[in-house]
Amino acid sequence: MASVKAAILGFGTVGQGIYNIVHERRTHFKETLGVEIEIVKILVRDASKVREGIDSSLFTESFDDVLAIPDLEVVFEGIVGEQPAYSYLDRAIEKGCHVITANKVMFARYGQQLQQKAKKYGVQVGYEATTAGGVPVIKTMQNLLRVNEVQHVQGILNGTSNYILTQMRTEGLPFDVALKAAQQLGYAEADPYNDISGEDAFRKLMILCALAFGEQPDWSKVEVVGIDCITSQQVEEAKAKGLRYRHVADAYRDSATNEIVAQVGPQLVGADHPLYAIDDVNNAVTLNTNYIGTLTMVGAGAGMYPTASVMMEDYADMLAKPERTVAQV
Ligand code: NAP
Ligand code: HSE
Repeated sequence: MASVKAAILGFGTVGQGIYNIVHERRTHFKETLGVEIEIVKILVRDASKVREGIDSSLFTESFDDVLAIPDLEVVFEGIVGEQPAYSYLDRAIEKGCHVITANKVMFARYGQQLQQKAKKYGVQVGYEATTAGGVPVIKTMQNLLRVNEVQHVQGILNGTSNYILTQMRTEGLPFDVALKAAQQLGYAEADPYNDISGEDAFRKLMILCALAFGEQPDWSKVEVVGIDCITSQQVEEAKAKGLRYRHVADAYRDSATNEIVAQVGPQLVGADHPLYAIDDVNNAVTLNTNYIGTLTMVGAGAGMYPTASVMMEDYADMLAKPERTVAQV
């Protein structure tokens, strides 16, 4: 039985999810993947923090300690922000490791560079968890792009925003109370600015654009509006009219200019709209394609296990198809 050495960068909601799944599903992975996955290092900001039930010698504050592990096979990344995450993954690829990330802030900016570098070094990049949580939009799009063109991408891409809007409408909760609940449930970022300002959905939309259209629009031309401008009174008024607020990200290639047009912001939708029924932490992504037509995927857009699960699925794909690069530039 082959043993695989893995490192986790970050031990918050996502990192702990990876750790738990690796341990809970140890026997299953042995049987189905033919490997025993061993977590050999965990990078955190503060290694002195007490982390109940976990061997403290696994933790380090130094990425050099991670890279120093002989035969390290895969790095799961769940830290925050563009840097140092990008540099860490860049160095891991140079060392010959597969990398799997949940960090959309980093990946929207540097994803294409990482994928090019991975090709050069013969390793793979998994990024399903960067976009729409547990909804397998990246894998699905990679598959259908082998035959189809994607003409239009639209969806709810931030679980926290959708959860807050749902709680405001169904429970009458004030914005701040609903946001606190989203943080306690592990949906919101530690600093929730990106969630409620629309920036998180924007970064995810840029990742989808890179995959769907092979390029991103000029970021400065994308209008981004969050849900932080919506009041409880507006939610109530909409409800009385049979309408719901949804935070929608939208992108398509303009046939006249050949440019990618994208926008992110709240919309009021009626019962006949496909996003009307998408409540709570759920995300939904609709793809318009030339052959398949319209395809919509719905599922949990944030949270420990949906996110960690798709990261482990990325790794299972890498093991199943070692000749295929998971990421496509
Ligand atoms: P989190 O709970 O805030 O945890 C972040 C972890 O990263 C902490 O363990 C922290 O260390 C560590 N960390 C942060 N910056 C670091 C640095 N510069 N060097 C070393 N360690 C660092 O965050 P999370 O919710 O797990 O999210 C992690 C990433 O996944 C983010 O990029 C997020 O956007 C993305 N994501 C999250 C979800 C979700 O549902 N939560 C879903 C999809 C994607 P300490 O413990 O020492 O503070
Ligand atoms: N904070 C993010 C969200 C996590 O609520 O959608 C998933 O990317």
